[in-house]
Amino acid sequence: VDAPPLDRRGRALRDLRVSVMDRCNFRCPYCMPESMYGEHFRFLGNDERLSFDEIERLCRLAAQLGVGKLRLTGGEPLLRPHVAELVARLRRIDGIADLAMTTNGVLLDRQAARLRDAGLDRITISLDTLDPVLFHRLSGGRGALDEVLAGIEAAQAADFPRGIKLNAVIRRGVNEHGATDLAERFRGSGIVLRFIEYMDVGNRNDWAADAVVPARELIERIDARWPLEAVPAQYPGEVATRFRFRDGAGEIGVIASVSAPFCGDCTRARLSSEGMLYTCLFATHGTDLRGPLRGGASDEALRRQLRQLWLQRADRYSEERAEQRKPSRRKIEMHYIGG
Ligand code: GTP
Ligand code: 5AD
Ligand code: SF4
Ligand code: SF4
Repeated sequence: VDAPPLDRRGRALRDLRVSVMDRCNFRCPYCMPESMYGEHFRFLGNDERLSFDEIERLCRLAAQLGVGKLRLTGGEPLLRPHVAELVARLRRIDGIADLAMTTNGVLLDRQAARLRDAGLDRITISLDTLDPVLFHRLSGGRGALDEVLAGIEAAQAADFPRGIKLNAVIRRGVNEHGATDLAERFRGSGIVLRFIEYMDVGNRNDWAADAVVPARELIERIDARWPLEAVPAQYPGEVATRFRFRDGAGEIGVIASVSAPFCGDCTRARLSSEGMLYTCLFATHGTDLRGPLRGGASDEALRRQLRQLWLQRADRYSEERAEQRKPSRRKIEMHYIGG
């Protein structure tokens, strides 16, 4: 057996993020603005999405190349029928030490226990504000705060072995003032809240540098109210920078992918719901794996293709953005690649 591949910057392949559904029941303006994802938008057809057999097979091959961490994303992964069945199958793959999911939480109330029973280790729920009116607006008029809060409670009751995280994308002048409310609400709950800097993912949101609230600013604001201390990273290239409340009320994190990019240790690959593999969140092109899968490629051939793709990789988009060396380009959309 060959050694696990390293890319052109010496980075291993450790995480695979799998989008299982391109659709979403929200229309967050920074991801799927209603104006562009209306009635006439053409989503993938059922047979265009990878089947569970196909996803399971690719994940098994990826595990053989060193992947130990899988995350199911969307769009909204809970819209994929029988997704818990997929969780159970992925759970049985040798070498997968961590199996997680990122969801908007609306359908979690009904599915949390089933997902835990299927073997999901942990869950991450997106929640940008605790203001019900603003929440409704930020979901593109589709979601109700209460449903997500019920989903979070169901996840707590389900008692995922590796816990719950919340992701809050903070934007200047939109929800920045609610950041402290979120911290207050979830301090001491055992849930880890993370603030995410607004990123220029895709081409369809209204990203501008001045819409980003730098993570440092948020941490200073929280620290002024509830003193914090830094927690060392658990592994190189950890996405979130972590802090501990000095009074013992748990942890909080920031994901500073704009102000402090973490490409240097990025070990993540992404698989879209139609089977395109991307080696960066900001990729402009990917590699079709569905073609070979459906064309009868052997495990050996697919593994070789994955390995080659990884060996060629040199992506470091966020660092390049920070160096202001990046012309605008057509990037893959967030709902398609899953964040
Ligand atoms: P765990 O550490 O496994 O809990 O997950 P994570 O910290 O990777 O977090 P999650 O998958 O919930 O991602 C949170 C946010 O970070 C999302 O907005 C992602 O798009 C962003 N993010 C995750 N991975 C990357 C990455 O490789 N590059 C960039 N630029 N952003 C990322
Ligand atoms: N910038 C930062 N985070 C984003 N997310 C979606 N779009 C963006 C963006 N433009 C977040 C979602 C979710 C996670 C998967 O990515 O809110 O928490
Ligand atoms: Fe919002 Fe997530 Fe759906 Fe995008 S995929 S519209 S960020 S809930
Ligand atoms: Fe990895 Fe690309 Fe994100 Fe950098 S911008 S951390 S290379 S996914």
